[in-house]
Amino acid sequence: MKIVVKDDRQQFDHAAALEIVHLIHAKPHAVIGLATGNTPKGLYKVLGEMCKKKEVDFSEVITLNLDEYLGIDPDNPGSCRCYLQERFYDHVNTKQENTYYLNSHPHDYEKECKRYDQLIEDLGGIDLLILGIGHNGHLGFNEPSTPFGSTVHVCPLTDRTRTANIWSFGSKDKVPTEGITMGIKSIMNCKKLMMLANGEAKADIVHKALYDKITEKTPASILQLHNDVVIILDEDAARFI
Ligand code: PGA
Repeated sequence: MKIVVKDDRQQFDHAAALEIVHLIHAKPHAVIGLATGNTPKGLYKVLGEMCKKKEVDFSEVITLNLDEYLGIDPDNPGSCRCYLQERFYDHVNTKQENTYYLNSHPHDYEKECKRYDQLIEDLGGIDLLILGIGHNGHLGFNEPSTPFGSTVHVCPLTDRTRTANIWSFGSKDKVPTEGITMGIKSIMNCKKLMMLANGEAKADIVHKALYDKITEKTPASILQLHNDVVIILDEDAARFI
């Protein structure tokens, strides 16, 4: 596990962006899994700026999202899809046919999970998956006690996760109660993982995930077993490291 600690947010965002840029330089048609949330906002901004300056070319890159809320329209501004459109796709030169999403309103939940599992396989696996970490140690929407063997699945969102995401929806009653997410096994199958955490509020859980027992109660603890993972932290999140 490679742990990188940066002094401030700007350096943190830049270090994360460079991981992506280096991958694309080495493999222009890389398959990249995208997280949403507060943490990677700066990363997407930097990637947009670098793309504008032609320092990176996303024209062959394939992207797919890590998770999505369920039961909302795809154009709901709180959706992961809209987040990525606004903060990433509108600023880079990805091709629409190379970008994949989880459907937030599938007719058949089971089928949608299977479709996404198959998609990942058909794409030849994910070269790099961007991850945040929840205050409870969740990865994607894999809340504590999600089986480590899980693939793409539908999951209830904890009260804490819903509260943490009020900013996307405006009020708690609008935050969906369920999500659809790559499972822990889907995450562990990615060739490389990049987990990002910033801010003091993440310091405890980052320490627990990286140094405590590997347990389904702390989903992110599984990262200790991945053979190519980079953890990028700012000083606040790295306080107990
Ligand atoms: P955050 O969410 O970036 O908004 O803190 C992280 C996560 O839930 O994975």
